Amino acid sequence: MKVLVIGSGGREHALAWKLAQGERVQTVFVAPGNGGTAADSALKNVPLTDPQALADFAIAEKVVLTVVGPEAPLAAGIVDLFRARGLRIFGPTQAAAQLESSKAYAKAFMQRHGIPTALYGSYTDAAAAHAHVEQHGAPIVVKADGLAAGKGVVVAMTIEEAHAAIDMMFDADGLGGNAGQHKADGARVVIEEFMAGEEASFIVLSDGRNVCTLATSQDHKRVGEGDTGPNTGGMGAYSPAPVVTPNVHAKAMHEIILPTIAGMAKDGVPFTGFLYAGLMIDAHGQPRTVEFNARLGDPEAEVILMRLKSDLFELLMHATNGTLDQVELEWDRRVALGVVVAAHGYPAAPRKGDLLDALPADAPDLHVFHAGTTVQDGTLRSNGGRVLCITALADSVRQAQQRALEAVRQVQMDGAVWRNDIGHRAIRH
Ligand code: AMP
Ligand code: GLY
Repeated sequence: MKVLVIGSGGREHALAWKLAQGERVQTVFVAPGNGGTAADSALKNVPLTDPQALADFAIAEKVVLTVVGPEAPLAAGIVDLFRARGLRIFGPTQAAAQLESSKAYAKAFMQRHGIPTALYGSYTDAAAAHAHVEQHGAPIVVKADGLAAGKGVVVAMTIEEAHAAIDMMFDADGLGGNAGQHKADGARVVIEEFMAGEEASFIVLSDGRNVCTLATSQDHKRVGEGDTGPNTGGMGAYSPAPVVTPNVHAKAMHEIILPTIAGMAKDGVPFTGFLYAGLMIDAHGQPRTVEFNARLGDPEAEVILMRLKSDLFELLMHATNGTLDQVELEWDRRVALGVVVAAHGYPAAPRKGDLLDALPADAPDLHVFHAGTTVQDGTLRSNGGRVLCITALADSVRQAQQRALEAVRQVQMDGAVWRNDIGHRAIRH
């Protein structure tokens, strides 16, 4: 059987690596892939990103199953396109992917279906957004809506910060020009109640009706140790996350995940794919939804897939057949912990083209997943903000952290940045 993974990050390297272990899997294509998927003899990079060209390729190569890693192709409707051409693909449709691509859609959905999340207001008008802040005070959270918003999320500790964030997000060019002026494409901000607590990543698969839970994990979004500095795509993760106790797990399933899958089906937008609920768990163990993602997390995928013992190909065949109710997953009991090696200047202005050398060898308890790497004239070079995610398995969080860090320190790359404290919340517990 031939399989196609779409994307080029660490998550896609992990998906492809795991799929290649499938008993019935003969070839795993990765489009476009990275330097790590290029070097792995079990994987084959395909230099395509255009959805129609990818569908042509899948038909020509008789690809049995396609899996989509990142959000952008999902939001662009690649699942709809593949299905229309008779191809099997795992991921949400464009309509269902709005759970991630539109914060306003996700918030309205959660409110309609009684799914716990922060109170919010959604505004296309800057004056109304400012008034919301005046009424509710700080701390308060200001989010730009829409995929390419790029200005993200501001957790404002003072009302001045909140007002400034609104002006920045409504500004036509994002550089502090005409505050309050609408963007031509309809800028929208979501303003949320600040939720206190500890975050965890709760990821499941759904076939539209049935749900299969993956192991829990926790990401580290800030660039600096002690969770300081700007937000990133994620500087490291580990699994399982002890903050998700059996009680929190049951609440997350019954109050968030199952009502979301049922609600999407009821709304006529069945959700097929990986559903990632970012949870905020308060001091009483009550989880609320920070956000939904319509895909696996990165670097969560790397640690989760390191621990998955079951055949991922068979799992995704069930997920695309509507038979996830027949699946029981097997997990490695050990902790998996992944440390991201990022480029100089990440996240604001990551430098590309640095030489990579002395990568540690893969072992049963260690895997070097590549993210932003590329092979140029036979040499491996950095090609993005997050370059590697070095993932280790061990009996405790501390041991897994040590094993991963030993490997990280071997890597030779100018300006490499990483965090030495991945997993700190589980180590202090
Ligand atoms: P998001 O892009 O929605 O995942 O937000 C990025 C990060 O901002 C989250 O991982 C949280 O750490 C923080 N955040 C977002 N919304 C809230 C909220 N309502 N209360 C507290 N923190 C939040
Ligand atoms: N690691 C967070 C994400 O994938 O969105």
